[in-house]
Amino acid sequence: MLKRTHNCGELRKEEVGSTVVVSGWVHSYRDHGSLVFIDLRDREGLVQLVFDLETNKAAHEIARQVRCEWVLAASGLVRPRGEGLENPKMATGQIEIIVGEFEVLNTAKTPPFDIDSADTVNEELRLTHRYIDLRRPAMQDKLRIRHKVTKVVRDYFDDKGFWEIETPMLGKSTPEGARDYLVPSRLARGAFYALPQSPQLFKQILMISGTDKYFQIVRCFRDEDPRADRQAEFTQIDIEMSFVDSDDIMTMNEKLIARVFEEVAGVKVDLPVRRMTYKESVDNYGIDRPDLRFDMKLKDISEIAKESTFGVFTSTIGNGGIVKGLCAPGADKFSRRDIEKTLTGYVADFGAKGLAWFKVAKAEDGNSLVLASSIAKFFTPAQQQQIIERFGAADNDLILLIADTEDVVNKSLAPLRVKLGADLGLYEDGRYEFVWIIDFPLFEWNEENKRYDSLHHPFTSPTAEDMGKLETDPAHINSQAYDLVVNGSEVGGGSVRIHNPQTQAKVFDLLNISREQAQDRFGFFLKALEYGAPPHGGIAFGLDRLVMLLTGTDNIRDVIAFPKTQRGQCLLTEAPGSVDETQLKELNIRVQKHQS
Ligand code: AMO
Ligand code: AMP
Repeated sequence: MLKRTHNCGELRKEEVGSTVVVSGWVHSYRDHGSLVFIDLRDREGLVQLVFDLETNKAAHEIARQVRCEWVLAASGLVRPRGEGLENPKMATGQIEIIVGEFEVLNTAKTPPFDIDSADTVNEELRLTHRYIDLRRPAMQDKLRIRHKVTKVVRDYFDDKGFWEIETPMLGKSTPEGARDYLVPSRLARGAFYALPQSPQLFKQILMISGTDKYFQIVRCFRDEDPRADRQAEFTQIDIEMSFVDSDDIMTMNEKLIARVFEEVAGVKVDLPVRRMTYKESVDNYGIDRPDLRFDMKLKDISEIAKESTFGVFTSTIGNGGIVKGLCAPGADKFSRRDIEKTLTGYVADFGAKGLAWFKVAKAEDGNSLVLASSIAKFFTPAQQQQIIERFGAADNDLILLIADTEDVVNKSLAPLRVKLGADLGLYEDGRYEFVWIIDFPLFEWNEENKRYDSLHHPFTSPTAEDMGKLETDPAHINSQAYDLVVNGSEVGGGSVRIHNPQTQAKVFDLLNISREQAQDRFGFFLKALEYGAPPHGGIAFGLDRLVMLLTGTDNIRDVIAFPKTQRGQCLLTEAPGSVDETQLKELNIRVQKHQS
């Protein structure tokens, strides 16, 4: 076999005059009779091979039979392309290889889709033939970037004295609160392992074990419905540190993220990353993961609206609700139909019962601003001015308002804001806005089950100031948790942990986890806490989400070599699949016929 000397994509003018050997896949071919041109492709790019009937009859004849995706090795002389034949779109476009010897290493069936136009091909077909899909330069770039991110992460933590330590995949149910993937045990019949939703308790036990600084690039499993930025099987960059406070952890980790963005994408991150309280974020953006690439803050106008004569608003406020909205700059170009069908339909999916609107326009005097809308008549001129002022509205803006419970209002306005930011082009591509969200409440009240739920997980510590409120006022405790948000995506989250067994027991009580349940689920951990747990805390980043941001995709499947579909299937291997009766017998499992 001809031994490769160069990658296809790396050849330049400097190699002119040398004899090289390249190998790869046939990307395209053009048969011009006495000349055959083949673009050969490998991981690094394309190069043009020339087969000339005059100089090499045998090679020329075989080249005419070659088809796309056949695998070739070719040796030949690198020469400059002729006058006017250079291709500025190709990195190797100034040269070509005039082939002397060549070998067909393998033939290939006609691929199910064209590599060049795979962006328009349906994703199922791409996932079924993932090996073809991954040959595309755009996909190879994503694999390369993902590799680079993990390399930078490992180097960074190695520099800082962290150890990468593996934790079990077969374990007990962990506390992140999603559904577990269960694995039946053959040796302990009827018992199950759970795949880890995260290594949370193991990393805390590693701190109790004295390892001090831990990290791991680790697969996690959560049996939830996949979404655009969520897979059942995903990867965390998981970190835990001893003898630190939340500032130490945030500082250590924002430097990591800055290094990743700088080295992988050449993006400079200004440090320290700004911080915003949970309350400020929810008030201004309706959500705890604000997209700060554009402004357009939400404003509560209940005080003004309650004085109006618009029944929808006054009755909602009378029932304890609020009226809140946003002012979309230059959006008065939206037609009534855009607003009342498209935008109203959009927020309805998040629970909003309607979407009131005002267009902001110049008054007849040409100076002052007025509100135009079918509901403007319910607002006095003074109230209209107050609304304009509250939003800092300008001519041609569109004010959109929702009246409902605070929860529904925020859950509807937050995605509406993000949609309008994108639709109105309020930010440039390639911009990244980082923010730490801090001062989360420790608990949220679960009305359905009449108990508190952890906002993060039950091992998160209250702030030192609020520790006493565990006894007196659990609803108003702030936690020492923090999330890192980039462009509206939660890329990481963590906390300082509880290291005192009595505090941990108290938190379980408030979560309505009985002593027996706590013992059964986390007994091993509670016991470990009693043997000298150091103060500790950590964080986990979603590796897939980081790579999504760095590659500019909004589809998590694009950054995972072998992802699962929305239905949790691997189309390449056809997992999940049925298993042999003997395997089931060994596990003492009987599968009932599916009844639909
Ligand atoms: P958390 O549950 O917030 O914290 O997860 C940490 C980060 O992991 C990413 N992530 C996901 N990415 C893709 N698909 C999913 N299904 C998915 N779920 C989470 C997110 C998220 O910010 N043990 C704690 C961390 C800690 O306290 O140290 C934990 O797992 O980017
Ligand atoms: P209606 O009186 O129901 O025809 O509504 C008049 C206007 O108020 C329409 O533009 C509705 O979309 C809007 N509207 C209705 N309910 C709400 C609500 N809960 N919040 C905001 N606007 C609403």
